[in-house]
Amino acid sequence: MKAANIKRFIGDVLSEVGLTQEDGQIVANSLVGANLRGVDSHGVTRLSIYVKRLGLGAINAKPSVSILDESGATLLIDGDNGMGQVVGTRAMGLGIEKAKRDGAASVGVRNSNHFGTGAFFLQQAVREDLIVFAMSNAPSTMAPWGGIEPYLGTNPYAYGIPAGKYEPILLDMATSVVARGKIITAAKEGRDIPAGWAIDQQGRPTTNAQAALDGTVLPFAGPKGYAISLMIDIMSGVLTGAGFGSHVNNIYGDFDKTQNVGHFFHLVDISRFMPIDQFKSRVDQMIEEIKQAPKAEGAEEIFLPGEMESRIQLQRLQEGIPLSPEVYGDLRQTGLEYGVDLEQYLYN
Ligand SMILES: NC(=O)c1ccc[n+]([C@@H]2O[C@H](COP(=O)([O-])OP(=O)(O)OC[C@H]3O[C@@H](n4cnc5c(N)ncnc54)[C@H](O)[C@@H]3O)[C@@H](O)[C@H]2O)c1
Repeated sequence: MKAANIKRFIGDVLSEVGLTQEDGQIVANSLVGANLRGVDSHGVTRLSIYVKRLGLGAINAKPSVSILDESGATLLIDGDNGMGQVVGTRAMGLGIEKAKRDGAASVGVRNSNHFGTGAFFLQQAVREDLIVFAMSNAPSTMAPWGGIEPYLGTNPYAYGIPAGKYEPILLDMATSVVARGKIITAAKEGRDIPAGWAIDQQGRPTTNAQAALDGTVLPFAGPKGYAISLMIDIMSGVLTGAGFGSHVNNIYGDFDKTQNVGHFFHLVDISRFMPIDQFKSRVDQMIEEIKQAPKAEGAEEIFLPGEMESRIQLQRLQEGIPLSPEVYGDLRQTGLEYGVDLEQYLYN
């Protein structure tokens, strides 16, 4: 289905649940942007849970995002329990202004919700020639290394670097082996997951997607991934005054509570270190040296972070976004509950 048509559908559904047109478009751009880049786990498949929480009042459809505190290099933002993409976009906008004025900005956000994909926020900052670091905590789905009881989230960690001739370098990753959304998608589609992604409730390895969701996902790189996830939770949750660890509420349950997710963004104005063109040509040189480096047996190409996603985006902008029957059905049902029929958006 064409990206522009899905965006209109999502915008219309979200305005029925109370978001302003502008905020609905922000969420639509984040979700469809994720699908365009091939990150289907954080794309339109999330609409139904967002709409459910908005409908129940567990997310505030019209938040007043406000600055609680500001100093020379820091901003503390209250998200007023708004949609994570909306709160994050406002916070990033304020951080971008500040970094351009003051050279760098550290932005802490409390009282927010699931912010979708980290790359969405990176793109806002690299367009402005800033280096950006974006992270968020998330509900407990990952046990500390050696444990079986989820405590940390799959806390995403994202870094954006502007380049010159080439696409920006966008590293955007869950701190679990894979984003839990990929396991949710597999469970929705009745598929097994590869070994090594998760353990079940008893701590045994599993390839059953539902058993994995009932158990705990595994951190990437074993204890190192656990440790990085912990650091992200300290910056996004402990430091900002948001929930942390098991005090971040479950998006798929806890419908009578707010999630109190926290985010942390750090922005650096490159021009305070060297002229921007010089930096970009140094990044370009690095990209070229990596792309031309000798390849391991069986490897056809060496990629930069974000490169594969931008290739998928070119293809999906032309050919449309593939939606599985399960995801299409889920989206259509979500819209129908608010009188918006996805079928009406198929061709125009
Ligand atoms: N909001 C939340 O609570 C939350 C939680 C977890 C994850 N997420 C999101 O889930 C998404 C998916 O995360 P993931 O960890 O499953 O992604 P992934 O494993 O598909 O990719 C992670 C990163 O590795 C890079 N990469 C992959 N293969 C590469 C290669 N061969 N060479 C160079 N780079 C390569 C990708 O470009 C990407 O930047 C992200 O957008 C993340 O922000 C969100």
